[in-house]
Amino acid sequence: MCGIVGYIGNKNTKEILLSGLKELEYRGYDSAGIAVLQNDNFQSYKAIGKLVNLEEKTKNFITDNFAIGIGHTRWATHGKPTELNAHPHTGESSYVVHNGIIENYAKLKKELIADGVRFLSQTDTEVIVHQFEKNLKSTSTAFDAFSKTIKKLEGTYAILLVTKSEKESIFFAKHGSPMLVGTNSENEKYFASSDAPLIGQCNDVNYFEDGDYGYVNIDELTIFDINGEKKEPIFTKLSQNKLSAQKDGFRFFMEKEIYEQGDVIADTLMGRLNDKEIIFDELDDSLFDGINEIKLCACGTSYHSALSATYLFERYAKIKTSVEIASEFRYRKPIMSKDTLFVVISQSGETADTLETLKMAKKVGLKTLVICNVDNSSMVRLADTCILTRAGVEKGVASTKAFATQVTIFWMMSLYIAQRRDSLGTKEISRQISLIRAIPTSVKVKDSLHERIKRLSKRYLHGHGFFFIGRDIFFPLALEGALKLKEISYLHAEGYPSGEMKHGPIALADPELFTIALLPQHLLYEKSKSNVEELSARDSTICAISALEFDKADDFIKISSHQDYMLEFFEMMVVVQLLSLEISVRLGNDVDMPRNLAKSVTVE
Ligand code: F6R
Repeated sequence: MCGIVGYIGNKNTKEILLSGLKELEYRGYDSAGIAVLQNDNFQSYKAIGKLVNLEEKTKNFITDNFAIGIGHTRWATHGKPTELNAHPHTGESSYVVHNGIIENYAKLKKELIADGVRFLSQTDTEVIVHQFEKNLKSTSTAFDAFSKTIKKLEGTYAILLVTKSEKESIFFAKHGSPMLVGTNSENEKYFASSDAPLIGQCNDVNYFEDGDYGYVNIDELTIFDINGEKKEPIFTKLSQNKLSAQKDGFRFFMEKEIYEQGDVIADTLMGRLNDKEIIFDELDDSLFDGINEIKLCACGTSYHSALSATYLFERYAKIKTSVEIASEFRYRKPIMSKDTLFVVISQSGETADTLETLKMAKKVGLKTLVICNVDNSSMVRLADTCILTRAGVEKGVASTKAFATQVTIFWMMSLYIAQRRDSLGTKEISRQISLIRAIPTSVKVKDSLHERIKRLSKRYLHGHGFFFIGRDIFFPLALEGALKLKEISYLHAEGYPSGEMKHGPIALADPELFTIALLPQHLLYEKSKSNVEELSARDSTICAISALEFDKADDFIKISSHQDYMLEFFEMMVVVQLLSLEISVRLGNDVDMPRNLAKSVTVE
């Protein structure tokens, strides 16, 4: 995820910007850059890859008196990770860094190009600096030009802009992407997109609210609200704990990662859909030529997301799809035919068993695709083609946002293939796309929901086991819910198809058997309900998750009413993640680093 830093003061500006960016490294990035205005002169440096590359480029650059500077780590969304696309972006005499998405950038860019502006990058960000410089020509002050620019932007942003027209100020604006400013007794001003870079530099910080914009110079911090009214900063004391700063105020990385699923899914979608079609620029048009079957291979949570793909691909793309656990597939001498597209799924891109299956597929000449979260990982380098999930760095050992983005990709892929195979009408594809756009909202954690789960969790700390049950695509979600619970609570849990319980496991039913029932309103509701009733009749303790009240349940977690089962899927995913988290917390376990587990399993 992108990171922003900014500084005004008399200290070593270059070092402050670089060390601030270092604090944001853990969020993941693929290029970085800084711009410094000192003695009337701008100097800007950018480098792709890790920060050491930027450090190397700036090693002879000295900033030893008053300067203003901005810096950025970029995680590519609009345009590839190249030096030209890295921030800061420049016009004739100004530089800008930006986190978020300018949704109306294409329209603004068109207007600016018509005015004769030349764009250097493929980013949405570059329009900000050109629009600002255009406005400069018709306004009396640089800040007026900035305010006018902000009013034209649609979308989400945290922006810092510096300009020769106002040599001692940094202009800022925030809407939907986090940003804060800190100050200290030496009157220095520090900006960042999260707390970590400010720790040790300032004690007092102001967190900007959506709609805030303004400017700082060495003497003042001026903020306007969304209505253009001047407002006072609200300074709070900054905790001096770096690790907790990286957690952005959450108790655990896993919790933070559950909460940020809406944002990362928005990144997953970015540039990949319009109202009528799904666009995967990374896929060659000929990828599906001659393909009659898709084989998916993965481990753990990634295997569960792959299982969900089998439902979506067969239902929407009408293509035969199967899924295999990588460690099994490796040794069972599988038949691999050339009309199969071989797809591996991995958060890390390094899992030994999955990597090995990819090698097997390549060896026999199958077309290969990897769905992965880590660019340049072994699988990404090996596969013919790659779709990056853009979940950002996942620190919690128990995977959450990686799963969410994988399923999002699979839903989009099912429509992408459907477009090519004419298996869904254009109207239905458009309808599904509008549903996909609603995923980020469906995974937003509501305080009331989290509170309810926190309260309920105390009733699920014992018993002789859990069954998570669901039908259809809610079966992989049940498997994933059970895996989450096992991993961090160390309680025994199984995922099971609801309709299969009566073929054996129902023998276990008694009050000490906890059933977590996934009851989507829009998919096989009556059938799933009957299965839960069978368990309830045998006195199993039932916790039902549904949009519809269910009186046979001992506990009920109500989700929102959605238009479609897939949006119910995403909200229920959040529920089972939070339930595991809260049970684990109550049991006093290490949520982020559960016993016996590693984040990346590079041994077989
Ligand atoms: C579960 C979990 C693991 C991984 C599995 C595969 O929370 O994280 O089950 O999903 O080890 O890892 P990747 O996706 O990196 O191949």
